[in-house]
Amino acid sequence: MGLERRARMLAPFWAEHMQRTRSAQARWAVTTDFRGQWLTVLGAGRLLDFNRTVLLPRFANLQLVDADRLCLHVWKHLPKPVEPVSVDISGCVDKWLASLKKGKQQPWAETLETIRGKRAPQGSAYRAGGEAVLSLNVLSQLQIVWQDGVEEYLQKRFGHDFVKSHELEWLDALRPAGQTLVEQHLAALERAAPTYVLLITDVEYLEYKGVPYQADHWAPPPVEWTEEDGWCAETEVDCEVSPALEGVALNADTFAEWMPSYRLTWQESWLWHIAPLGTGPEQYGKVHRVGAFALEAREQNARAD
Ligand SMILES: C[S@@+](CC[C@H](N)C(=O)[O-])C[C@H]1O[C@@H](n2cnc3c(N)ncnc32)[C@H](O)[C@@H]1O
Repeated sequence: MGLERRARMLAPFWAEHMQRTRSAQARWAVTTDFRGQWLTVLGAGRLLDFNRTVLLPRFANLQLVDADRLCLHVWKHLPKPVEPVSVDISGCVDKWLASLKKGKQQPWAETLETIRGKRAPQGSAYRAGGEAVLSLNVLSQLQIVWQDGVEEYLQKRFGHDFVKSHELEWLDALRPAGQTLVEQHLAALERAAPTYVLLITDVEYLEYKGVPYQADHWAPPPVEWTEEDGWCAETEVDCEVSPALEGVALNADTFAEWMPSYRLTWQESWLWHIAPLGTGPEQYGKVHRVGAFALEAREQNARAD
């Protein structure tokens, strides 16, 4: 619901991201010889960024997957048979947070050690059915949900001010688990063995100060990104970039390691000015860099060749 509200409020700023997300799906659809059976959408949500116009006619059935049960009412209205799946696709985050809340109350250092010791086990992530799988702006969310849940737990136990003043310590303790969430998402795509995968996810976050915006008045973001030069900012802009996926760069080597049965066929990248400075309570603005990665089973390539 928060997402829908923000999408409405910041519609002029989000439009390009929504359009690029849908056009990546259109490119996938027109360049792929789907057999027309099942499409699974991971992180389907309210289908705000799903390209129903091009994808629905190409598949007989849809499996829609999201942790948020409130999406079910949106999915009911699609003109295709839908298998709805309400599940935590990480297979871990919900369990980790529940075990923290139910577990023995430990002092600060031990609590952080418990958090630091979490690892997504092999085979824990949700294995999608379907000939084609679309992972739709959900991968980076796994770590965010984990981080938000831990922050809430720590604030209740140790108080807001203490947690704020020890932010670097607890953020650092989240890292090992965060990395395994990303790795196991890729491993689950490999195990599910669809013929085609389109993975769309945030890959970098940029926070900036210096240029204010108004929610209802579109203006370009204060930074650009190109494949050749990376990030480029206006001179008055002070900014900081961090990876969206802990310890994992999405490139050919990473896919070769975690999805060895797949070949990366194309990729695209664009910016999402998700929180322009001045449109929310934060003292900084936020831009995400999003990547779309199309992968195809190697066996399928051999058949096509
Ligand atoms: C940024 S939204 C993507 C937009 C979404 N496709 C839409 O149109 O509403 C991320 C989606 O991932 C879902 N999500 C986040 N963590 C999840 C998890 N661990 N398992 C399943 N779904 C998750 C959220 O409920 C949300 O719907």
